[in-house]
Amino acid sequence: MRTLLIAGNWKLNPTSTEAAAALAEGVKNGLGSATDVHVALAPPFVFLTKVDQVLEGSPIGLAAQDIYWEPNGAFTGEISGPMLVDVGCTHVIIGHSERRHGMGETNAQVNAKLKAALAAKLIPIVCIGETKDERLAEKTEEVLLEQLTGSLAGLSAEEAAGVVLAYEPVWAIGTGLTATPEQAQAVHAHIRSWLSQVFGEATAARVVVQYGGSVKADNAVQLLGCPDIDGALVGGASLKAADFLAIIKAGQEVTARGKS
Ligand code: 13P
Repeated sequence: MRTLLIAGNWKLNPTSTEAAAALAEGVKNGLGSATDVHVALAPPFVFLTKVDQVLEGSPIGLAAQDIYWEPNGAFTGEISGPMLVDVGCTHVIIGHSERRHGMGETNAQVNAKLKAALAAKLIPIVCIGETKDERLAEKTEEVLLEQLTGSLAGLSAEEAAGVVLAYEPVWAIGTGLTATPEQAQAVHAHIRSWLSQVFGEATAARVVVQYGGSVKADNAVQLLGCPDIDGALVGGASLKAADFLAIIKAGQEVTARGKS
């Protein structure tokens, strides 16, 4: 049985260390010592150290929002796996659509970053998802196949089992539009079937596949209740502790009642 992972991707928010610490504190206090769902927070790089201090003694994981594939050297502006581990990170988001589409990140680069994360023993959260035009052109499966094949190239089954995938349809990110539970479940089942073909059924059964895109307290129970949806990567609703805690609570409810 896979444990749900609810992660908050703060993106380029908030704008002060004080606000970042307060948000982390709010989530920490609300969650307490509960481990029935896994929780992680992904603040901007500059707040990682502070948030790590705030989260001390809590089961909440600390995620970076990106990683560079080289461990060190002349790469101005980049941050490496060993550096992330040094400041307390446990997870790292890789290939978010805002990086793929906004910064031109390729599947080959995502693959290099994924391998760097695994080498540093960070849990990678690899994002995939189609744009609105791709969905309308009925190219969703084709696009996901290309992203999965390119991003996970060269991984062993054991390595793949430790990767978290986040299916984030680009058209649902920050738009208030959410994939229906049926739409999301269909894509998640497709992703799991691809994992099964490539890495085997036992590995596919272990991979946590999150959904992301306008997840809120009022749609979380339905989405998280789907058999192949193993958590949420939350943007906007992770910026207020109460909103994020309500999504975590939804995950706890789903976990307590068990999935079909
Ligand atoms: P929203 O929850 O704001 O739609 O963002 C989703 C996302 O991109 C998380 O990585």
